[in-house]
Amino acid sequence: MRRTYKRTRRLAAVLAVISLLIACKKSSVNQDSEVAFQEEFRPQFHFTPPAQWMNDPNGLVHHKGVYHLFYQHYPDSNVWGPMHWGHAISKDLVRWEHKPIALYPDQLGYIFSGSAVVDKDNRSGFGTSENPPLVAIYTYHHMAGEKAGRKDFQTQGIAYSLDNGDSWTKYDGNPVIGNKDIKDFRDPKVFWHEATHQWVLVLVAGDHVKLYRSDNLKQWNLMSEFGRDIGAHGGVWECPDLFEIGVEGSDQKKWVLLVSVNPGAPNGGSGTQYFVGDFDGTSFSTDQDAAQWIDQGRDNYAGVTYNNTPDQDRIFIGWMSNWDYAQTTPTDHWRSAMTLPRSLSLHQDSQGQFYLKNYPLEQLSVISKRIVEKKSIDISQTFTLSREHFNQTELIFDMPMSEPMRLNLGNEWGEQITLTMDPDENIMTFDRRQSGSVDFDQKFAVAIQNQTYKVADRLAEVRMIIDASSVEVFIDRGRYVFTNQIFPTEPYTELDIIGAPGASIENFKINNINSIWQNE
Ligand code: FRU
Repeated sequence: MRRTYKRTRRLAAVLAVISLLIACKKSSVNQDSEVAFQEEFRPQFHFTPPAQWMNDPNGLVHHKGVYHLFYQHYPDSNVWGPMHWGHAISKDLVRWEHKPIALYPDQLGYIFSGSAVVDKDNRSGFGTSENPPLVAIYTYHHMAGEKAGRKDFQTQGIAYSLDNGDSWTKYDGNPVIGNKDIKDFRDPKVFWHEATHQWVLVLVAGDHVKLYRSDNLKQWNLMSEFGRDIGAHGGVWECPDLFEIGVEGSDQKKWVLLVSVNPGAPNGGSGTQYFVGDFDGTSFSTDQDAAQWIDQGRDNYAGVTYNNTPDQDRIFIGWMSNWDYAQTTPTDHWRSAMTLPRSLSLHQDSQGQFYLKNYPLEQLSVISKRIVEKKSIDISQTFTLSREHFNQTELIFDMPMSEPMRLNLGNEWGEQITLTMDPDENIMTFDRRQSGSVDFDQKFAVAIQNQTYKVADRLAEVRMIIDASSVEVFIDRGRYVFTNQIFPTEPYTELDIIGAPGASIENFKINNINSIWQNE
């Protein structure tokens, strides 16, 4: 059976190559995406580049009904190299259309991470008020400077587009923020601050963020700094984001600063922390003392949110990998995927503590189809469900938060993932140590991941979304999240759930999720 499956995969790959050749002949546009996306481990409903290396999401901006996703991309290899901005667009944040590369390295350096804004009033002067420009703000990384041991090799540049992102012109006054001696000086996120009528830019400088202001996106002045003595500092700070967000269930608004850090995440390697506080137009401050994390899984890094969304929704996308092993994962034609786009919401608990939830957008339902539904399932004895495969599905059910639970999903070859909830210890865990191919890198599956949680006397939703090489677990609608890559060598076919004597889970559902590439 194992061999037959492998043979089928090989045959599928050969057919994919043949159809790729036919497609290239038919069309002058050499878009692998038209026929590929069938390779082993290729995600079917998560964004991946058509080919080669990808890391951070960049320039997340909504404009004229289109969500842009730019991304760190090296088009010549499946490992990190001279960085470009790859580009894709979507109308619904579910299905993506691949676009040509937006930004290429130039004499100032590689194009590192950054953001994009709609310059509505044409303050930059790059467009007109009838056709306002899209402006990208990014980091230049001058490789020769770095190799020579200098400290001034990262500066900030801008580029603009007058055709909704199809073509870009770099500003001839680049760099717009120079650098004398800050070794890690990068990843600018820009937004319009209505209260003070100015553009605000936040970037990282090693162990802290710096905030700048501008009227025209070209001249920038330093306003303040934040973070040297607060939060997690296991590694260098990267990819900040700063935004205002309403507190659910109240009229209060707060500001949230996201900061990725590598290494130093709670379960190892790269991770994204956040601070909840206030921003007065000049500086950011917080009462929070300990770091809080977006995700306790190992594969959600460098995530940032969209500018200019229609209803001011906070929509977040992260890079679904970890620098600990990002370049060695067992894929060949392409490498890395993005998390599902997620909605961020801010909440306050009974002790006054603020926390973020992140949860997939409702729109995912346009490609999903209910295939199993059960009102209540007794889990005092192991509940087992077998299916042809679970690798393009989601499981959703409600469970009492005060009860223990253990869920295994795996195949007959002993490959499996395990999620546990232990209310006595207040700990939930996720284990991918036997999830499939794991030994491509010794840092991939070193330990069981864990996370403390607050036990409550109520039901909480458990939602697990499984693609060909990832599993995203959302507990209590995104209060506790584990995002992880997995590389099962055969599909997962068996689900087991067990709880305490007398325990049951409610509203159990399984949805199939269609491929977003099937019509490519
Ligand atoms: C984060 C990061 C950024 C940098 C980019 C380079 O993953 O290290 O700080 O701009 O990747 O590709």
